[in-house]
Amino acid sequence: MAELAGAWWKTGVIYEIYPRSFADSNGDGIGDLGGVIAHLDHLEWLGVRGIWLSPVSPSPNADWGYDVADYCNVDPDFGTLEALDELIAGSRRRGIEILLDLVPNHTSDQHPWFIDSRASRTSSHRDWYVWADPRPDGSRPNNWVAQFGGAAWTLDPRTDQYYLHNFTAAQPDLNWWNRDVRKAFDEIIEFWWDRGVAGFRIDVCNMIVKDDELRDNPPATDADAVVEQIWGQRFEFNANRPEVHEILKHWRTRADSYDPPRVLLGETDVHHLAMIPPFYGNGSDELHLAFSLPWLHSEFDAETLRSVVEATERGLPEGAWPVWTGSNLDTSRLATRWAAGHPGKLRCALLMLLTLRGTPVLYQGDEIGLTDGEMTKAALRDPIGLQYWPHASGRDPERTPMPWADGPGRGFTSVDAEPWLPISTPDHCDVAGQIGDPDSVLTFTRDLIALRATHPDLHSGAYVSLPSPPGTWAWRRGETFTTILNLSDVSVELEIAPGTVAIGTRRLRDGERVDRALTLDPWEGASVQTT
Ligand code: GLC
Ligand code: CA
Repeated sequence: MAELAGAWWKTGVIYEIYPRSFADSNGDGIGDLGGVIAHLDHLEWLGVRGIWLSPVSPSPNADWGYDVADYCNVDPDFGTLEALDELIAGSRRRGIEILLDLVPNHTSDQHPWFIDSRASRTSSHRDWYVWADPRPDGSRPNNWVAQFGGAAWTLDPRTDQYYLHNFTAAQPDLNWWNRDVRKAFDEIIEFWWDRGVAGFRIDVCNMIVKDDELRDNPPATDADAVVEQIWGQRFEFNANRPEVHEILKHWRTRADSYDPPRVLLGETDVHHLAMIPPFYGNGSDELHLAFSLPWLHSEFDAETLRSVVEATERGLPEGAWPVWTGSNLDTSRLATRWAAGHPGKLRCALLMLLTLRGTPVLYQGDEIGLTDGEMTKAALRDPIGLQYWPHASGRDPERTPMPWADGPGRGFTSVDAEPWLPISTPDHCDVAGQIGDPDSVLTFTRDLIALRATHPDLHSGAYVSLPSPPGTWAWRRGETFTTILNLSDVSVELEIAPGTVAIGTRRLRDGERVDRALTLDPWEGASVQTT
């Protein structure tokens, strides 16, 4: 796979945009494509090479875009198809590629396919979804629970059958055993690839095929993931079926037939590290990149993080490329979850993400150390928060708008508009407040991205584990860079090969000569270039 060695998605950084909260160009309080276009200069300046754009297709928003009503169009909240074309062209001019979010597991219940499917047992789209008879006592076809809680089945009185929904009842699951569903998605995929989209982030790609006999899930055991223990069952038959690999292989063949090849970045919604490698196939015939939830949900301590990275490195097939992310639209932001507002922890987290072997995927706001927003019951929008508040706040805290500047609207929306989610970010914690400051988190992130882009060992060199004292983690990239993180409350001295600090979480150390040992303060890190 020599031609892939320098592929942009391996050497570059990907940046997730949650468009509803990125930037609002028309003052309705909702981020939109015009807002993304207006901030392409920021992304070019930051140095990212790709954008994963969360869904922009027409949606009734039962799950904020992840309930798609038309796969080949743009929701009026976000703009038009022409605006998306403009975004694709404008980002390409800046050396940035666009990945759209493909949602193949389910549609909206307002999608014409489902409207037809539910109309009668004989309608032409009936078999496009998963319908099943009640059991003889009228109860649900099996014990499957939805990911957001409750049963995964809803009885449709029109035809007296249950339909399956692994998420909300407004998101009926498609039946991927049906060949016409597969054909329809081939057309959707090609529609976007022909428009110049560089690939897809594929929503819950491990889930799309269901057990063809609809067998009951077994009870969860202590060894199962927390979410499985909470819902009391292992997701064995409603997800994670082996037949999904046939579909991923088919998409990869299609992706490879394009010039340049298109990229598949899968949301592999699995909670055991050992379940991830199979999604890479033989290393070059399924996903290019598979997100790691075990990594995302790791505690921020040296031993845990090191062991996840090293198990990942050991477990991937040859040629496979890891992906590292610390925040996304579904997970508390890294500045809150990993760093808890601590500046040293935050910078260690960014240094780690940007100097490991694998593609870093930053979430909008990571570059300024944006923390989760504060939520009130009245402001909630996410179906999870709406259902479980106050026990769980749902995903709104990590979806609050990006603060670009001080003042009303924070540069996200116009001064008199009401943003769709509240902005609680403290003053000056925004792009304008950090951009000219050589010691800001934003400058640190940008410098790290630039460093990574400039040195082949930093983006492509092998990961080599180095021994280091408890509470610390050290690794080499190729022959020339060593990253050392002190994730502890005490100072440490580490022996390393002589060199120069290329970048430190305390910037005053940049350029410092290291002869044999480096002393790091608590929660300090550095990347040292061997000389
Ligand atoms: C993915 C998305 C999440 C969505 C779910 C259902 O996990 O990231 O936001 O709710 O799939 O589509
Ligand atoms: Ca808008």
